[in-house]
This record gives sequence, structure tokens and C-alpha cells, in this order.
Amino acid sequence: MKILLRCDKPLLLLHGQVAVGPPKKKQLIVAIDGPSGAGKSTVGRALAKRLGYTYIDTGAMYRTVALMAKKRSVDREDETKLTLLASSLHIVLSRKTEELHVLCDGEDVTEAIRSPDISLLASDISKKQGVREALVQKQREMGEGGGVVLEGRDIGTVVFPNAEAKFYLDANPEERAKRRFEELAGKQANVELKETLEEVLKRDNNDMTRAISPLRKADDAVFIDSTRRSVEEVVEEMARVIKRRAAEEG
Ligand code: DC
Repeated sequence: MKILLRCDKPLLLLHGQVAVGPPKKKQLIVAIDGPSGAGKSTVGRALAKRLGYTYIDTGAMYRTVALMAKKRSVDREDETKLTLLASSLHIVLSRKTEELHVLCDGEDVTEAIRSPDISLLASDISKKQGVREALVQKQREMGEGGGVVLEGRDIGTVVFPNAEAKFYLDANPEERAKRRFEELAGKQANVELKETLEEVLKRDNNDMTRAISPLRKADDAVFIDSTRRSVEEVVEEMARVIKRRAAEEG
């Protein structure tokens, strides 16, 4: 007698038993790197939602360390104190409804970490090796199981060089400044487009020229220019690449 078993749910495996059911899809690590305002957050969030993956905004972690350094009057050049701070903070990226919330030692810092001065301070403190090591370790712990979309500056080059899918997202500086400006203008009254462009260019320069883990495209990353392209188009292109990679991985 032939017995056919169909099972859509994962089976509990007891020692010596054979699993029956559809093969489990491999949970990939997806890396998105690129300069500020390239659309990494919007696209990363939409992509994670589409794949049913967890979205990890690593820039929010550098921003949180910067905010806490400012609050506790830690000198931006004091690597020892900044490293201690980065290692000791309990940073949680949580999702309440559609919005990403950032908690630091239980305090909601979601809004506070987005101001222009914290953007520049985050870029400055991210040059420090000890700060990077502390945060990279946390990021690896969060992502190593797969099923994640991580966005930042060094994900494909340093944090997960073996990520199955890597993207480098870019757009022209004027468009990136415009996006940042629109994002900020909704929350803060006193922002100017010209100042936002200056901030974006300064951060590009900081992040691309620093000695440790500078922003650069990983050799095996797919380059996507998001200038004048919709979020849907970019997500669609990424999803196609990921599908191909997932098939190659088996
Ligand atoms: O992605 P963001 O703009 O929120 O990041 C803020 C700063 O943090 C950015 O200017 C550089 C730093 N950063 C980094 O060095 N490495 C990352 N993986 C993410 C951000």
C-alpha cells in the first residue's frame, strides 16, 4: 500500500525520523549598502515585508550611540569611552505596526536620532574602530540566522561578506538631498534644502574616505541607481535577483 503524506507545516523531528513535507526555503541574508538618501530604508523595509524577512537598519544603531554620547557629554574623539558606550547600550530595533521603533535601554529614541546634528555625529563616531567592532558584533548576532535585510555602509563588505544577495543603492546627490529634506521637513520646521545638501555631501565624504570600513560597493554587489525610479521598481528588481540567488542556493 502506498501512503502519501502531504504536510504544509514543519514536522517535529524525533531522533531517527525522516521529515516529510515541502523543503524549507532557505532564509537568505540580504545586504543593502549605499550613501544617505539613496532610498535604502524605504526600499529595505518594503523588500523585507515582501520576503517576510526582518529589516535591520544598522545606521539607527550608530545614530543611537551618537545620541547617547551627546546626552552623556562623551567627547567625539574619545574612542575608549565611545567604545564602552557602544558595547554597553541595549539597542532594540522593534516594529510596532508598520513603523520601526528604536529603543535604547528601554527609552524610545526613534525621533531623537533623526536630527541633522545626530546624523553628522553618527558619521563622525562611526570612524572609530572600537565603536564599529561593538556594533558589527551585535549586527552579526542579529543577522546570522538569515531571513534578514540589513542596510548600512559596510554590510556586504565587512558585516556579512558572504551574504547571498548584495545591493549597492545610489542616486544623484541632489535627489538624495531632496529626499532627506522632505523626510526632515515633515518633522522639523527649520530645515533648508541647501543645508541638507551640504549635510549629505559632508557625510558622503566622511563615510567614503574613513580609514576603517569605508562605504564602497562590494565587488559582487548589484549596483542600482534609484534616481527617478519608484520604490516598487527598485524592490521588484531586487526581488528578481534574490529569487535567482535563492534558486542557486537550493
Ligand atoms: O544610514 P544612516 O544615514 O542612518 O547612518 C548614519 C551614519 O552611521 C552614517 O553616516 C555612517 C554610519 N553608518 C556606518 O558607518 N555603517 C553602517 N553600517 C551604517 C551607518
